[in-house]
Amino acid sequence: MTERYVVAIDQGTTSTRCIVFDRRGQLVSLAQQEHKQFYPKPGWVEHDAAEIWRNVERLAPQALRRAGITLDQVAAVGIANQRETTVLWDRRTGAPIGRALVWQDTRTDSLVNRLLTRPGADVVQQRAALPLSTYFAGPRLRWMLDHTPGLQERAERGEVLFGTMETWLIWNLTGGLHVTDVTNASRTNLLDVHTLDWSPESLRFFGIPRAMLPEVRPSVAVFGTAAAAFPGVRIGAALGDQQAALFGQTCFIPGEAKCTYGTGSFLLLNTGTELVRSDNGLLSTVAYQVGGAPAHFALEGSIAITGSLVQWFRDQLELIASAPEIETLARTVADNGGCYIVPAFSGLYAPHWRSEARGVIVGLTSYITKGHLARAVLEATAWQTREVVDAMNADSGLTLRTLKVDGGMTADNLLMQSVADVLDVPVVRPLAAETVSLGAAYAAGLAVGYWPDLEDLRRNWHRAGQWLPAMDPARRETEYGNWRRAVERTFDWIQ
Ligand code: G3P
Repeated sequence: MTERYVVAIDQGTTSTRCIVFDRRGQLVSLAQQEHKQFYPKPGWVEHDAAEIWRNVERLAPQALRRAGITLDQVAAVGIANQRETTVLWDRRTGAPIGRALVWQDTRTDSLVNRLLTRPGADVVQQRAALPLSTYFAGPRLRWMLDHTPGLQERAERGEVLFGTMETWLIWNLTGGLHVTDVTNASRTNLLDVHTLDWSPESLRFFGIPRAMLPEVRPSVAVFGTAAAAFPGVRIGAALGDQQAALFGQTCFIPGEAKCTYGTGSFLLLNTGTELVRSDNGLLSTVAYQVGGAPAHFALEGSIAITGSLVQWFRDQLELIASAPEIETLARTVADNGGCYIVPAFSGLYAPHWRSEARGVIVGLTSYITKGHLARAVLEATAWQTREVVDAMNADSGLTLRTLKVDGGMTADNLLMQSVADVLDVPVVRPLAAETVSLGAAYAAGLAVGYWPDLEDLRRNWHRAGQWLPAMDPARRETEYGNWRRAVERTFDWIQ
């Protein structure tokens, strides 16, 4: 019998990958392509959705070729995607209308402030179990409808379609299926998390025509069969990339958590089939839904800027030539020299949710070298993790005992040690580094019976790295106090 495989499409903020996995969850081949980032104004971030689809079309045969396999050996395709990024396109031609507005884009800042004062804002926030924020897709969609003449009318006539990235990809893969999954829908401000369908009150509040919205489906289920990129192959799953990482880390039991360190970092705690509302600045989100079974929920601590701070240090300050050099540079000094960087480039997300916040560097003296700045860059990620873990412990009433991590930044040993130090818990990394893709592959494979059940997937999880806390407790608390004072500075910068 010919061996079969599952392919994941990981459509991320900076690049798209197609990855082939085998039955043991091992990576067989990978093809990756970056796409252009557009920054037309401060705070604005855009992508070209057509470019992203072209990349998927190009990467699919590359990944299969590198694996030495043919299409008939692919049991299913699963999708994981950057969440909240908002795409509009013409139903008839399939052409994008304007650029996609990326999750980091803060142009809806004043719109969100206006919406917050309108009657019904509390109901919308209650239905979605999310705060109204520039982070989510709903305000972005409202902004797009407001800023393109005639678009609202066309949307009402059903001529214009909305989607987040998985919807856009499934539309193109299948040649016209307009669907989303519950995890991505739960990031729009438009879903009712109790019914797992669009909330009529929320659509009215935002003035969004139902005709432009995709149908909401479970995350793990056959969505349809691809006609392009992977012709003839079933699409078995779609999940927001952070939920996919939770799935790939096999955090299926309530109380299990992971943190993915990428452009931003996202800590998700599985809360089971019960939606837990946060009193401490975390989001409630759908974790996954397997077929018709009840959905699992998660508490999420979303941190907007972590890996992208390293990119900024590399590309804008030009203090290093490549991202991994940050660790080498940071190791030239013993500590941060009293310097802290709070990267509130898109405001601050969890647990603060302050869209007006702007980044600060504090504690500068003539003693500070670029080595200290490099330390402060890495420590910013660690301290932001500490803030969301504190919020999670307070919300769940549990104390996190270990943190499962994944994502590109986990290759930085100094950073991972720093995370263990500031959290005072062991940090563990699995053998499978590509957990976002692996989660999408697992979900798609489950949908088509390639893997029998969740237990089978759990057996594939193997520990590859571990960092144990080694920081003096008094020093930890002093430095955390310094960090918190630095965070305060970001709030009062713009009056
Ligand atoms: O919510 C945004 C998140 O989904 C983006 O993840 O890995 O593409 O930066 P990433």
